[in-house]
Amino acid sequence: MATRVLSGIKPSSDSLHLGNYFGAVKQHIKLQEKYEAYFFIADLHALTTVHNKKQLETNILDIALDYLALGLNPEKTIFFRQSDVPAHPYLAIILNNLVPLGLLKRAHAYKDKLNRGETDQSINAGLFFYPVLMTADILLYQPKYVPVGEDQVQHIEIMRDIAAKFNHTYGQTFVLPEALLPSKQEARLIGTDGQKKMSKSIGNVISIFADEATIKKQIMSCFTDPNRIHPTDPGRVEGNPVFVYHDLINQNKKEVKELKARYRQGQVGDVEVKQKLFQAFMTYFEKPRRLRRELYQNKDKVKKILASGAVKASKTAQKTLIQVINRVGL
Ligand code: ADP
Ligand code: TRP
Repeated sequence: MATRVLSGIKPSSDSLHLGNYFGAVKQHIKLQEKYEAYFFIADLHALTTVHNKKQLETNILDIALDYLALGLNPEKTIFFRQSDVPAHPYLAIILNNLVPLGLLKRAHAYKDKLNRGETDQSINAGLFFYPVLMTADILLYQPKYVPVGEDQVQHIEIMRDIAAKFNHTYGQTFVLPEALLPSKQEARLIGTDGQKKMSKSIGNVISIFADEATIKKQIMSCFTDPNRIHPTDPGRVEGNPVFVYHDLINQNKKEVKELKARYRQGQVGDVEVKQKLFQAFMTYFEKPRRLRRELYQNKDKVKKILASGAVKASKTAQKTLIQVINRVGL
């Protein structure tokens, strides 16, 4: 049997950013060549934050279009919506009974909310049980690898804990899947503020499919070397977000090398570096941006792809679920 990979992407905003691309999507697209791949839109997970029907529907379609435009091949890969496969919440409900509350209380997403001043009154139970649903998402398909960005590593560890507990309680059932991370720089791409990881909730993003004017604005307002006041001051390249992005997306390596050398010597202004970054960005994403516009005209095709993916995913998921049901005595 081919080695299997699986990952999910939460449709919690209407636009993918560079961090999502380098931390997750790029890997996913590459892995489908080598492995049997299952990728799904984690719409049940999005319910933790999106409570507006129209918004959720738009986000789901948008993320499907983004993935297909960026190269997901529905002929090879099983691409589906989580909510089309009821085995996900079914297994999660079973697993809940093996999960100590303390494990969930240590989850970053929950702790971050508490640290930001939220309370058990404002945090919903969906967010609290998020790692259990994610565990079910993964275990149903028995993948060897789960390709994710660094921020998901704790969820993968929780998933492994729960799987081991299940095996211990009911007998060997699950092989423990492993996280698969991209390079360090990609696994936690720095945001345009030059400080935090790129994240839509912070707004320090460069969006992949936004209009040109928006992207230009995002790039031109990017932080650079905070200690450099004049273009004639020698600048720092390492960790400088504009150069991190140049390294990742500018295919003209000679240009990047020259820009870095001039920057270090104080012979180039931020504006030129950013303008070149903007051009490199538009070149890098030219094809996906065009493909996405075309796909947008053909939304029915996208819906068909997801429906056929759900049929295939359900078959695999159902097998595991039946096995679990037998094990636990339901
Ligand atoms: P956000 O932080 O913008 O809300 P999500 O939590 O929806 O993004 O993440 C979707 C996927 O993209 C996850 O696999 C996550 O690990 C990855 N990801 C998000 N931000 C980054 C980043 N700055 N660097 C690398 N990967 C990221
Ligand atoms: N929690 C992941 C994120 O925020 C999305 C996700 C849901 C996922 N279920 C998954 C990722 C299963 C990998 C495997 O990005």
